[in-house]
Amino acid sequence: MSDTHHILWLNFLQLYVSMAGITGEDCFHSQKLPDKLSLHGTKLDLSRCNITKLQPSIFQTYLNLQILDLSYNALEELDFSVFQYIPVLQKLDISYNKLQTINCNTLQYIRGITHLNMSYNYFDTMFLCKEFASLTKLRHLGLSARRIGRHDFLSISHQELDTIFLGLEHLQLYEPGSLQMLNTKKLHVVLPEMLTNSTLLLYDDFNISTTLEISHLQCDETCDLIIGDIIQKSKISNLILRDITIPWNEMGKILQISWHSSVEHLFIYSFTFIKNFNYIPFDFSEGSLKSLTIENVIPQVFLHSSEKHPLTLFSDMIIKNLTISNAELTHLPCPGENNIFQSLILTNNKITDGIFTQCQTLSSIQYLNFQNNILERLSSIASMTTMMKTLKHLDVSLNRLYYDFSATCEWSQSLLFLNLSRNKISDSIFNCLPNNLEVLDLSSNQILSIGKGVTHLKSLKELYLPSNQLSHIPDCGFFSKNLMYLNIDENFIQSPSMEQLTKCQNVKQIIVGNNKYQCNCELKAFISTAEVLQGNLIGWPQSFICEYPQELKGLILKDFHPSEISCNIFILLGLIVGTMVLLLIIMFFLCKYFDVPWYIRMILQWLRRKYRLKNRNNEESIIGKCFHAFISYSQQDYEWVQNSLIPNLEKGDNSIKICHHVRDFIPGRTIIENIINSIEKSYKSIFVLSPNFVQSEWCHYELYFAQHSLFGKNSDNLILILLDPIPQYLIPNKYSQLKAVMKRKTYMEWPKEKGKHGLFWANLREAIQTNIPLEDEDIFVFT
Ligand SMILES: *[C@@H]1O[C@H](CO)[C@@H](O)[C@H](O)[C@H]1NC(C)=O
Ligand SMILES: *[C@@H]1O[C@H](CO)[C@@H](O)[C@H](O)[C@H]1NC(C)=O
Ligand SMILES: *[C@@H]1O[C@H](CO)[C@@H](O)[C@H](O)[C@H]1NC(C)=O
Ligand SMILES: *[C@@H]1O[C@H](CO)[C@@H](O)[C@H](O)[C@H]1NC(C)=O
Ligand SMILES: *[C@@H]1O[C@H](CO)[C@@H](O)[C@H](O)[C@H]1NC(C)=O
Ligand SMILES: *[C@@H]1O[C@H](CO)[C@@H](O)[C@H](O)[C@H]1NC(C)=O
Repeated sequence: MSDTHHILWLNFLQLYVSMAGITGEDCFHSQKLPDKLSLHGTKLDLSRCNITKLQPSIFQTYLNLQILDLSYNALEELDFSVFQYIPVLQKLDISYNKLQTINCNTLQYIRGITHLNMSYNYFDTMFLCKEFASLTKLRHLGLSARRIGRHDFLSISHQELDTIFLGLEHLQLYEPGSLQMLNTKKLHVVLPEMLTNSTLLLYDDFNISTTLEISHLQCDETCDLIIGDIIQKSKISNLILRDITIPWNEMGKILQISWHSSVEHLFIYSFTFIKNFNYIPFDFSEGSLKSLTIENVIPQVFLHSSEKHPLTLFSDMIIKNLTISNAELTHLPCPGENNIFQSLILTNNKITDGIFTQCQTLSSIQYLNFQNNILERLSSIASMTTMMKTLKHLDVSLNRLYYDFSATCEWSQSLLFLNLSRNKISDSIFNCLPNNLEVLDLSSNQILSIGKGVTHLKSLKELYLPSNQLSHIPDCGFFSKNLMYLNIDENFIQSPSMEQLTKCQNVKQIIVGNNKYQCNCELKAFISTAEVLQGNLIGWPQSFICEYPQELKGLILKDFHPSEISCNIFILLGLIVGTMVLLLIIMFFLCKYFDVPWYIRMILQWLRRKYRLKNRNNEESIIGKCFHAFISYSQQDYEWVQNSLIPNLEKGDNSIKICHHVRDFIPGRTIIENIINSIEKSYKSIFVLSPNFVQSEWCHYELYFAQHSLFGKNSDNLILILLDPIPQYLIPNKYSQLKAVMKRKTYMEWPKEKGKHGLFWANLREAIQTNIPLEDEDIFVFT
């Protein structure tokens, strides 16, 4: 047989090698079998995988497994030693398999188990072998059987169970008193399809627990007899009916029976009502029922023809707590005069604004929950509460509520808790709030800022504003002194202000994480304040994360340290100004001690000359020239010219020829004639400028220069050497050419420092150096 058996290899290595042909294959490929990462997971769902056998090593890699679901498989035998590798296993579901026996010796391997569900297997009897006594932590046990004997539960009789589940659909034999062995808080049974002579006394033993759950009840008529029989015999105080499909009027009958019984709390989960939907007259005298909870109702009949609404069965009920949830309820009639409702929970329905309008009878209601309905106008809900003088808690979250400014707004003054989360509330809400509120939940709405209206809430202790559109931390000065909790998580706050945060320092818990923080200098103050207030700041530092700028996205605010310099405008300014001053000082010293400007001027002049030479036809300008330079100077500067200028230019090598009037002027001519001749015969003209020169010589040139506009286009034939500074006042107004020269500073300045003389001469020589085809001095005649 073994090779036809489909064997489950969970061990991964083996898994990949031998996958083909395993019937559990679908579960391997589906999400059911977690990948390696979640091997650390605590939960594993292997239900409906057609598993027929568990390999001994199967759970070796799942050391942390706490919850294992093996239901709806095809296990025929089970050796609990496969669980020896998972000592932390707490919940094991092996219901709906094909087990016929339990290997009792191996039960020791699941000694830590708290939940064990063995129901719906092929066990013939419910016999629990003595080894079950070792499962001392067991709290929830699921079983099912065809036959139950008197000693079947003996081994667990000393255990205090929370729940025992008994699937007894196919019960054939029940030995009276068998269940009396059990010690459990809750008994959950699926009733036998019918009682026979051999199982007749089953219900007599339902008195073992105070809570009884009956599931899968289906009956068309006389359901009340079955339930009545059970209730009567069991004296339970909590009755739970789950997955029931019965006519509406049978439901009424069951309610009526429960009303006159020991049952205090009745829960009906997953109730499908069929056949009829009509008003049922009800006897409300002497009820013991305190609360009724109905969840998940599937109505198969909608229309009713009765004069009174069928739902008055619930609204007229004289009980403290009523819950009708997920029942497609659009409306609930206003309760009768003598109602004692304290808590009404009508969540997950389709209730509209008309609910309880003008309903004055809810005079002891304290807790009202309309979560997840289709309420729209907040003003209607507010005025509804004005009739409820004792209402403390109102939950209208998950509706479509908005507040229209123009509508009047009156609330019950007793209201302390208001949950308006997940609606369409905007800033106008602050004009419509009950004054005595202590807790206000406005999460997930469309609030942009907090209005002054909030100052009226003098008792406010907790304010929830996460997931709105706030762009600033609200001014805590607006809030009551009692405010202890302020939640503005997940808003649009970019640059929270340090001042506003400081104002909130009396709030014990502030939640302002997960906002869109812009990490720049402005945030610095906030961050340091946050560090100080971190005891109050919930989620600091891990939920305070930079959103902008892009390169800082994801950085924790605590780790954002912009430099002191880049953030402090004064330091920054000081730094810039300081640098400039320093530069100026350096410049000043350079100029003062090294005369940098002089060098620069020299270099510029040299460069300019180079440039001009390049761009000019040199040949033309030297035609007919006999001298490299003509020198003009004042007699007072004769010494300098004779001893410095000429020797340094001529250098004794004849490469440069100077026209020096002392030796080169032709006698018999006027000075002017001589000068003009000399200038025209010379490649360049050098003027040694000094105060003396201006006073004594310049008069000869001024006119000539003006006539030939030499300072205009041909100024590069002129070389002006400033021997001594010439103060402006020394230059007479008529010398406009000279004034222009001095203004433009197109002269070479004679440096007083010896060190600079070399450069000066080199520059000067360079200026007048050219290849003049010099003729013999004797032949040279002025014409
Ligand atoms: C289990 O086996 C049944 C019949 O052999 C088949 O119809 C079903 O698809 C299988 N389910 C899985 C999860 O392999
Ligand atoms: C056991 O399994 C059955 C069927 O899956 C379920 O109805 C019952 O609630 C379970 N009982 C416990 C105690 O887990
Ligand atoms: C059940 O017991 C009653 C008497 O207690 C007897 O009249 C009836 O015939 C029995 N029914 C069956 C099916 O054995
Ligand atoms: C339950 O009923 C049986 C008789 O049917 C009785 O012997 C037992 O004492 C009762 N147990 C409780 C807890 O009332
Ligand atoms: C009834 O309602 C009150 C007030 O909401 C609550 O404290 C109490 O737990 C409820 N009781 C039941 C059984 O639902
Ligand atoms: C308000 O209702 C929402 C669900 O609608 C819930 O998550 C939230 O906890 C409630 N607020 C308070 C303060 O209980």
